[in-house]
Amino acid sequence: MKTIEEGPLLLSGTTLPQHVAVIMDGNGRWAKARGQARIQGHRKGVEMVRELVAACGEKGIGAVTLFAFSSENWRRPKLEVRLLRQLFLLALEREIHKLHDNGIQFRVIGDVAAFGADIVKRVRDAEDLTQHNTRLRLTIAANYGGRWDVAQACTQMMRDINEGRLVAEEITPETLSPYLSMGDIPEPDLFIRTGGEQRISNFLLWQLAYTELYFTPVLWPDFDRTQFELALQSFASRQRRFGRTGDQVEAAWRA
Ligand code: IPE
Ligand code: IPE
Ligand code: MG
Repeated sequence: MKTIEEGPLLLSGTTLPQHVAVIMDGNGRWAKARGQARIQGHRKGVEMVRELVAACGEKGIGAVTLFAFSSENWRRPKLEVRLLRQLFLLALEREIHKLHDNGIQFRVIGDVAAFGADIVKRVRDAEDLTQHNTRLRLTIAANYGGRWDVAQACTQMMRDINEGRLVAEEITPETLSPYLSMGDIPEPDLFIRTGGEQRISNFLLWQLAYTELYFTPVLWPDFDRTQFELALQSFASRQRRFGRTGDQVEAAWRA
């Protein structure tokens, strides 16, 4: 372990991610291990979301993005999908005023229309209510897929091309970024996936290009503050080089 006198490693050890993205996986296995129905794991999962959001707010992390339901999760048994939908609605009802009181801006990304008009209305109301809050930006990815996101960005871009606001030949990665669902906030610094799988499962694809990845076998309902601290420590111990050499990065730290 380097000491502070030795320079940049410890300095970088004090850095906090500004945007954390999480695949909250393992609810079903958590419930199964207790002989309970899978929905019990999802219920406990919502409690852990509350914990994580509180921890992020206290620490001064600016944005947290949570994968709640993927575009592939429709393949699950009808009953589980129905119960997840209900849980989403209930959580929206119960939590939104608390979120607002705590200065949290709430947004949903994904094709929410598929969940039905009642959810769409609640989501839009919640987004309107909290739109000017600045303490923490909470984004829930629901019926979200990273490929869908890139496709919908292309659709919007095509519209701008057709209407003369954009020239097709001049498109660069920087042109596409703002059309993505979270085009208006910095990309995640830290990605966490609980539950042991080491895959992206069609979560943020474009936005994770240079994100630090952290995988843990801990199931989402067990991912408490201590576990979150471990993830943050892991992040802090890494050197983000963005293509440069380690020497270049250390020199920049010293300057
Ligand atoms: C993640 O937990 C939550 C959702 C996908 C809604 P899972 O339900 O995938 O839990 P496991 O992976 O089956 O344990
Ligand atoms: C990813 O988890 C989606 C969410 C956590 C919402 P899954 O459990 O659906 O992922 P796979 O199918 O194991 O890759
Ligand atoms: Mg899973």
